[in-house]
Amino acid sequence: MDAKTKQSLVLLLCLCLHLKTHVCLAADTIAANRSLSGDQTIVSAGKVFELGFFKPGNSSNYYIGMWYSKQLVSLETIVWVANRETPVSDRFSSVLRISDGNLVLFNESNTPIWSTNLTSTTTSGSAQAVLLDNGNLVLRANGSNASTSEPLWQSFDHPAHTWLPGARIGFNTVTNQTLILTSWKSSEDPAPGLFTLELDPNGSNAYLIFWNRSRQYWSSGAWDEKSRIFSWVPEMRLNYIYNFSYVTNKNESYFTYSLYNPKTISRFVMHTSGQIQQLTWLEISSQWNLFWNQPRKQCEVYDLCGAFGSCNEVSPVSCNCLTGFEPKLQRDWNLQAYSGGCKRKTPLHCENATSADGKQDQFLKMATMSSPANEQSVKVETFAGCESICLNNCSCTAYAYNSSGCSIWIGELFNLQQLTSSDSQGITLYLRLAASEFKSPKSNKGLIVGVVAGSAAGIAILLGLIVVVILRQRKRVTGMGKAVEGSLVAFGYRDLQDATKNFSEKLGGGGFGSVFKGTLPDSSVIAVKKLESVSQGEKQFRTEVSTIGTIQHVNLVRLRGFCSEGTKRMLVYDYMPNGSLDSQLFHDMRPNVLDWKTRYQIALGTARGLAYLHEKCRDCIIHCDIKPENILLDTELGPKVADFGLAKLVGREFSSVLTTMRGTSQISTAETDVLSLLDPRLDGNADVQELTRICRVACWCVQDDEAHRPSMGQVVQILEGVSDVNLPPIPRSLHVLGDDQEHIIFFTESSSSQSSHQRSNNNSTKSTTSSTISKRYEEEHPINT
Ligand SMILES: *[C@@H]1O[C@H](CO)[C@@H](O)[C@H](O)[C@H]1NC(C)=O
Ligand SMILES: *[C@@H]1O[C@H](CO)[C@@H](O)[C@H](O)[C@H]1NC(C)=O
Ligand SMILES: *[C@@H]1O[C@H](CO)[C@@H](O)[C@H](O)[C@H]1NC(C)=O
Ligand SMILES: *[C@@H]1O[C@H](CO)[C@@H](O)[C@H](O)[C@H]1NC(C)=O
Ligand SMILES: *[C@@H]1O[C@H](CO)[C@@H](O)[C@H](O)[C@H]1NC(C)=O
Ligand SMILES: *[C@@H]1O[C@H](CO)[C@@H](O)[C@H](O)[C@H]1NC(C)=O
Ligand SMILES: *[C@@H]1O[C@H](CO)[C@@H](O)[C@H](O)[C@H]1NC(C)=O
Ligand SMILES: *[C@@H]1O[C@H](CO)[C@@H](O)[C@H](O)[C@H]1NC(C)=O
Ligand SMILES: *[C@@H]1O[C@H](CO)[C@@H](O)[C@H](O)[C@H]1NC(C)=O
Ligand SMILES: *[C@@H]1O[C@H](CO)[C@@H](O)[C@H](O)[C@H]1NC(C)=O
Ligand SMILES: *[C@@H]1O[C@H](CO)[C@@H](O)[C@H](O)[C@H]1NC(C)=O
Ligand SMILES: *[C@@H]1O[C@H](CO)[C@@H](O)[C@H](O)[C@H]1NC(C)=O
Repeated sequence: MDAKTKQSLVLLLCLCLHLKTHVCLAADTIAANRSLSGDQTIVSAGKVFELGFFKPGNSSNYYIGMWYSKQLVSLETIVWVANRETPVSDRFSSVLRISDGNLVLFNESNTPIWSTNLTSTTTSGSAQAVLLDNGNLVLRANGSNASTSEPLWQSFDHPAHTWLPGARIGFNTVTNQTLILTSWKSSEDPAPGLFTLELDPNGSNAYLIFWNRSRQYWSSGAWDEKSRIFSWVPEMRLNYIYNFSYVTNKNESYFTYSLYNPKTISRFVMHTSGQIQQLTWLEISSQWNLFWNQPRKQCEVYDLCGAFGSCNEVSPVSCNCLTGFEPKLQRDWNLQAYSGGCKRKTPLHCENATSADGKQDQFLKMATMSSPANEQSVKVETFAGCESICLNNCSCTAYAYNSSGCSIWIGELFNLQQLTSSDSQGITLYLRLAASEFKSPKSNKGLIVGVVAGSAAGIAILLGLIVVVILRQRKRVTGMGKAVEGSLVAFGYRDLQDATKNFSEKLGGGGFGSVFKGTLPDSSVIAVKKLESVSQGEKQFRTEVSTIGTIQHVNLVRLRGFCSEGTKRMLVYDYMPNGSLDSQLFHDMRPNVLDWKTRYQIALGTARGLAYLHEKCRDCIIHCDIKPENILLDTELGPKVADFGLAKLVGREFSSVLTTMRGTSQISTAETDVLSLLDPRLDGNADVQELTRICRVACWCVQDDEAHRPSMGQVVQILEGVSDVNLPPIPRSLHVLGDDQEHIIFFTESSSSQSSHQRSNNNSTKSTTSSTISKRYEEEHPINT
């Protein structure tokens, strides 16, 4: 390479760098002399948001979108899209510019494909579009005064799937304009999907989530102005991040919200999963933390899986096609956008007799399904009659016959769910399929014939083997409680079925499976946990279970035994009559509020249980899912930690097991003010010294650096009041500015939530950070010791 080429290369490089800086230092305005094309962007004055062309995922389409500036949020996070339905493929020959007083996007052939659509009367002169630091893109008349005049147009009036602080969701009764959140079709297609969050169009102050703008499947319940929560979202009581307000008058009704700490980066999203999500950016881990979402259960989203799809809460894949069906749009399906649904692999005989070998359609029996939408009931007295009615109507796709009679479904089946075998809501559905879907294929038939015709001796040996196997199995499971493993009882499935009256009384469900109440013949009351999707073989399962069985402590729920038969895996625990801590704390219906003394003992007991798990037992265990739901209370309201050791047993990724804990708490730095943090239902009846102690410990436990956090043993000592001497380093405190006082704020991270300070002797089990802290201020506010 000669010097000249080098020189020009350097020059070129400089030019490029210069260009790049030019792009980075972009202004916040699109005006007559300034347009957007290619990789150019505009950035809001405070460098919070950026606007320009983007490409979602592996899509080949480009859209004009708005995202957090990379300095603030390192993951590309789109919060608004202009041309949701009209993408361009070449961003360099497309341009976003001011045209006739409108902001207009022109495609490759200079055709306008998106516009702010103002009539020329409203925009007599030229205009300019400014990107503001709150994520609002506003169009103003050239020369108008921003602090006095309303914008001609603003992106906050045209929300996409994200609700930013300061934006409104509601409607305007004068213009009939609705401000709603609409999900994307898929992670690669920002076009409006089927799920929307809207303020109740009928006028109540509740938020509703709809499928296809018509079918409601979730409601927030009415807004209660006094307690400032939605009635069916009681967890909002714990909210110290979002300040919601409701505005309603003759012209408009809407909600808006602000953040108590304006430095928090947070947003609401109507996700393609049909769930509304509340996410907060965690600088520490560089990821969005799912703080809250609804509906909590994925399968409660109406028709998530489309026609002939079935939703399954258990398996990691939420949607499956019914037997005999396959995804219509495999690509969308891979992106977990299921609403396209499924199509038949083989046409029905009644539709196309030539393709079905001339054989009549048949019905596939499917047990414990939820009832599909749009059921029609038919007056028929017999099962056979019900079947023949469906068979004789080519558009009948399924029927069910039970004590309430005969039901048939016409056309596509929607909103199906595969329930767990114990769910009493389940029905047996008969699905119409072409005869060829009921194979045995011809080659197999040949094989069967061969075997039958084969040597009688062979069959005898086979039978003998089967008998031996059955006998061995019987030996293992009969005689309830006779097979004992360590101190654990190996229960037979039938025994537990009898004890729980065929799993009829459900106590709850967690990340690992449902729990049922039962009574043993000796009249002791038990809780039976049916583990879902256990990946382990029987031997490994027994090994793990016996490990858990050796862990015994007064503050840990005692494992009495287990059941392992075929694919069925169950754990049997002592029954806890007072339920879980969350039901005691958060459900208002209870007449008696837990008093301070009890609460303190629960905190102390829980800490003791965890300390034992971390430090005292032989094989130390990471709990991975400490939350009020997993702290059970015995007759004396003594706490017992539940569900320890299960993550390993089920062998799933932690992140997919954990039902996220999303709560916030707030702790004051002002020692005198500590009573203001107390649950108001206690009317200030608490030991201030204990309350202060608890608050301090809580602060230590949420230290960013694990090394600064106390061990659970230290926590126990401090709570017992034994040790005030060996205090860990004073925490750097974190504040949120309220109206008149400073607050410390912390919250427990989802998906990797654990109790404070987790340890493990098992190096293969990764210890993840426990609690994470929203935002740190430089200044330190030490707690006096
Ligand atoms: C605003 O309008 C004036 C006069 O109409 C014009 O001279 C000026 O260039 C315009 N400014 C922008 C940013 O378009
Ligand atoms: C566009 O015009 C405005 C006002 O006339 C001026 O301040 C700005 O620097 C111009 N921008 C560009 C990129 O030329
Ligand atoms: C995008 O494409 C890359 C490379 O082809 C592939 O590895 C990745 O899985 C794709 N992502 C999605 C979401 O399809
Ligand atoms: C530009 O948009 C128009 C109208 O939608 C369309 O007919 C045309 O094909 C587009 N041009 C290109 C190059 O895609
Ligand atoms: C603008 O108006 C056109 C035609 O009425 C419509 O198709 C388009 O969706 C509108 N665009 C916006 C952004 O409202
Ligand atoms: C805009 O209006 C405010 C309040 O009326 C005034 O103080 C300010 O000077 C105006 N700015 C311009 C550029 O006219
Ligand atoms: C708004 O809707 C109402 C009823 O649907 C209708 O009477 C009214 O004319 C509409 N107003 C506008 C501005 O479209
Ligand atoms: C609104 O009211 C109408 C008429 O009373 C009713 O049919 C409809 O279901 C209501 N919609 C919602 C979302 O409650
Ligand atoms: C959504 O509703 C419209 C009518 O309101 C209907 O035409 C359309 O087919 C529906 N979409 C789906 C996916 O059912
Ligand atoms: C919450 O929002 C309301 C209405 O915007 C406001 O009046 C109030 O000061 C806010 N509260 C706090 C603590 O920021
Ligand atoms: C409703 O809108 C009218 C016309 O824009 C306005 O004069 C009036 O003040 C508004 N009322 C309220 C309560 O905002
Ligand atoms: C019926 O099936 C045959 C064989 O698969 C196919 O060739 C024919 O097009 C189908 N007819 C209709 C009406 O779908």
